[in-house]
Amino acid sequence: MIKNKNVLIIGATGGIGNGFVRQLIKQPDVKYIFATYRYFQSSLENLSSNKIIPLKVDVTVESQIEEAIREIRSRVQELHLVINCVGILHEKELQPEKSLKHLSSDNLLRYFQVNTIPTGIWAKHLLPLFKHSQISVFAVISAKVGSIEDNYLGGWYGYRLSKASLNMLLKNISIEYSRVSKNTIVVALHPGTTDTQLSAPFQKNVPTEKLFSLNLCTQQLLSVINNLTIKDTGKFFSWDGTILPF
Ligand SMILES: NC(=O)c1ccc[n+]([C@@H]2O[C@H](COP(=O)([O-])OP(=O)(O)OC[C@H]3O[C@@H](n4cnc5c(N)ncnc54)[C@H](OP(=O)(O)O)[C@@H]3O)[C@@H](O)[C@H]2O)c1
Repeated sequence: MIKNKNVLIIGATGGIGNGFVRQLIKQPDVKYIFATYRYFQSSLENLSSNKIIPLKVDVTVESQIEEAIREIRSRVQELHLVINCVGILHEKELQPEKSLKHLSSDNLLRYFQVNTIPTGIWAKHLLPLFKHSQISVFAVISAKVGSIEDNYLGGWYGYRLSKASLNMLLKNISIEYSRVSKNTIVVALHPGTTDTQLSAPFQKNVPTEKLFSLNLCTQQLLSVINNLTIKDTGKFFSWDGTILPF
């Protein structure tokens, strides 16, 4: 078992990201939690834990990712767990498209800019922090609606496209990492529908027992992460540990 684990939560002021921080500060084997936020770090300060190192990052700006990595490397040589929890389904005027008539290239690009591309940029800059002899995990919160095989309803074009692409990106990263960072497990995770501002406008048809609290969602995902082995790299896991089709 690794003592003094160093963790990076990307999007630590969002619903699921903040849920992870709350779970991880309670774990005695966790030393540092590097926690990124975009605008305000108050929800991290309120946790008043000296394990938390806040880092300001808009993930669409590569220089800000590089600056965060520099700050992490000035404190530690190794990361053991990284979870990217950044994502958008709606944002200001941007709403998921119900039909082709709602498609716009600007909106499609925005989904890719936030939901897909940053994971590749993080993977590029995180590599030196993963190159060590301990097992490490690089997990990204994807979504089951990004599964091509599982798509029976259509709609939500930009979100589905960006998450399907994210899954391909993850698979590619897992292949390259298996050559250059052999102890890193790279996975996509589906959290299940969870009560956050992202899902709030779409919760009315979700049965109560299928809408997870942040506590339950993050406990379930940490249990999936804790059970991963190196053979799992490149796979897409649901909250209950089952493997989802790409
Ligand atoms: N909730 C669900 O039911 C559900 C289901 C399936 C998948 N997911 C996925 O789970 C992940 C987390 O979602 P959530 O439900 O926790 O949503 P959320 O509460 O809206 O959190 C999203 C996070 O993304 C951050 N973010 C958005 N654009 C950013 C940018 N340009 N730079 C930096 N950070 C940015 C937000 O930062 P701010 O705090 O600054 O806004 C926030 O921290 C997403 O990838 C989502 O697609 C969620």
